[in-house]
Amino acid sequence: MMRFERKKMVAGNWKMNGNADLVKQFMLEINAPENVDVIVCPPFVYLAQFDSQPFALGAQNMSEHEKGAHTGDISAHMLKELGAEFVILGHSERRQDHNESNELVAQKVKHALINGLKPILCVGEPLDVRENGDVFAYVQKQIDAVVSLCSEDFFDKAVIAYEPIWAIGTGKTASPSQAQEVHQFIRQHLAKTNEKAQRLQILYGGSVNADNAKQLFAQDDIDGGLIGGASLKVDDFNVICQAAS
Ligand code: 13P
Repeated sequence: MMRFERKKMVAGNWKMNGNADLVKQFMLEINAPENVDVIVCPPFVYLAQFDSQPFALGAQNMSEHEKGAHTGDISAHMLKELGAEFVILGHSERRQDHNESNELVAQKVKHALINGLKPILCVGEPLDVRENGDVFAYVQKQIDAVVSLCSEDFFDKAVIAYEPIWAIGTGKTASPSQAQEVHQFIRQHLAKTNEKAQRLQILYGGSVNADNAKQLFAQDDIDGGLIGGASLKVDDFNVICQAAS
C-alpha cells in the first residue's frame, strides 16, 4: 500500500497544571520546528494569556451545547474567541471523572466540527481490556460512536490520539510496536469507509518523554504525540517537538 506523507504533530496537554509564568515561558522559549504542527492545550483560563506564540492553541474540553443554562461549561464559540484552534475531546480523565460516554464524546466532536474547532479525539483501553486481548474491539467502539455521528468533516479536520489508560502518567509507555499495532488498526479500520483515513494524523499519548519520543514517532502510523507531564517542562517539550521533525 502507498505510504502517505503526513505532517507530524506534537500537542501538549497541561491538564490542570501551569500558571501565568509558564504561559510566559512557553511564549518565549518554545522552538516549534516548521515541519511539525505544535499545539499547546493549557487550562481554559490561560488561553487568553497567550498572545504571540509559534504554536497553535487548544482547549482540553468543550460543552456539546451552543450556549445557555449550563453553569460552569465553556462553548466552542468562547474557545474560538480565546484563540483556540483545537479541542481535546474524550480524554480518559474526563471519561472517568465526569462519566463522559462514547455518545456524549461523539456529540462534542460533532459540535466542535460544526463550529470550526478541530477535535483531538482521545481513545484508549484500560489495563484489563488489554490483558483480555480486547483492545481493537474496545477502541473501534469508541471511534465508531464518533464517526457514525459526524460528517466527512471528521476525516478532513479531526485528529485521533491513542492513549492507553495504563500508560497515562504511569511512566509505563506502550512499546513502539504495541502502539504502532493499534494505530495501524485504527487507520485500516477507518480506511474501509473513507480513504482519507490515510491522511488522518494519529497521535500516541501515554508517558511520552524526551527519551522515548523519537522511537515512537518513527513508527509508520504514529504521526506524533499527545504529551502530558513532559509538556510542562519547556526543555523536554522542545526536545519532543524536535524528535518529530
Ligand atoms: P502523560 O504524558 O503524563 O502520561 O499523559 C498523557 C496524556 O494523558 C496526554 O493527554
